[in-house]
Amino acid sequence: MIDLLNTSKSVPIDSPIISCYLELKKVYVSDTHLTSMKFVIGYESYHGNTRTMAYAFERGAREAAGETIIKHIRQIKPAEIKSADVIVIATPTYHKKPPSNVRYFMRGIEKLDLAGKRAFVLGSYEQEGEAVERVIEFLKLKGVQVVEPPIKLLGKPTKEGLEECAKKGRELATE
Ligand SMILES: Cc1cc2nc3c(=O)[nH]c(=O)nc-3n(C[C@H](O)[C@H](O)[C@H](O)COP(=O)(O)O)c2cc1C
Repeated sequence: MIDLLNTSKSVPIDSPIISCYLELKKVYVSDTHLTSMKFVIGYESYHGNTRTMAYAFERGAREAAGETIIKHIRQIKPAEIKSADVIVIATPTYHKKPPSNVRYFMRGIEKLDLAGKRAFVLGSYEQEGEAVERVIEFLKLKGVQVVEPPIKLLGKPTKEGLEECAKKGRELATE
């Protein structure tokens, strides 16, 4: 922009419009590049499969300078959800639905205003992995912008599956 204004010869380089532009640019740069994305990651896992996925995602987000909190879903406080830019729910499927701790968590945040936040859902499964869709549906009803598709891995995550989770964490921290 400075080059454009300058080459037009109509605006001197020391004019107030140039200094105003430079000030605005500083704010833009600090807002978009220096503020890290805050992730709150809650997981449930009976045999460790979904937990491993959640930690791989967290590693990716952290490596890309995201600020992360990762906990068992029962330990996540509503205040942490309120302060998150991205809510990540990692849920396995049992009996075609999310486990009771995940359902309890969803009831607990039902009354919070989550509009404008982003979310991502992942989980291990063996048949259809229905819990992931149930959680996505709930978040969408709350006005949350859910990043899709989710990651569903069959059974015990492979090295490649975990890399997929980490890659998604990195992507969401930099988008
Ligand atoms: C009793 C039982 C019920 C299950 N029900 C489902 C189900 O309805 N749908 C599905 O996709 N997987 C089902 N699974 C498979 C689990 O989701 C799968 O083993 C998953 O890897 C468990 O993840 P976790 O180690 O994070 O708990 C079931 C497993 C068990 C033991």
